Amino acid sequence: MLRVGVLVSGGGTNLQAILDAIDGGIIVGAEVVAVISNNENAYAIERARKHNIPAFIVTPKAYGSREEFNNALLETMNVCKVDLIVLAGFLVKIPEAMIAAYKNRIINIHPSLIPSFCGVGFYGLKVHEAALKRGVKVTGATVHYVDEGTDTGPILLQKAVEVRAGDTPEILQRRVMEEAEWVILPQAINMIANNIQAI
Ligand code: GAR
Repeated sequence: MLRVGVLVSGGGTNLQAILDAIDGGIIVGAEVVAVISNNENAYAIERARKHNIPAFIVTPKAYGSREEFNNALLETMNVCKVDLIVLAGFLVKIPEAMIAAYKNRIINIHPSLIPSFCGVGFYGLKVHEAALKRGVKVTGATVHYVDEGTDTGPILLQKAVEVRAGDTPEILQRRVMEEAEWVILPQAINMIANNIQAI
């Protein structure tokens, strides 16, 4: 059984998609053993608790320095004996020590087709605002492995989503979640759990 730790900062709809996919048999051979949030008000914590999954709040303001926070984050993963770390809307830069300790074992969901609309400053709604501003007709989501850069690691899965006339950033965000993120993130976890290679 692949032991998955999910890092969250907000609503946790991607976490919910993972939990539903496990319950529904779409992900086989993996279990979520810990949910960690940097934000004590994240609704994702509620979702974890409703599922009887241990939820931890590791927030920078509880620590004297960034280094102590980074250590606490890594320690929580280690204590939970996690095999795979999933960043599901986690808006904190992953410490280098964690990337080194979990090399090729951290994946992230990003709400665009990388290399478009990614990198520093592109997160959440900002990604969709930028896509609409540029006037792209197709956007989507990407699951990629996490390396030292921002959104630069090897791509595992991508799914395209149509942009429609009249879209607002909120409407587009929802469509990208429904049609792409909630599909490819569970799919990626199932692939890793079962050693299925991407194309
Ligand atoms: C998702 O759209 C995810 O792709 C995005 O944050 C949202 C979190 O929603 N992540 C990033 O922008 C990372 N750069 P959720 O908390 O409902 O899963």
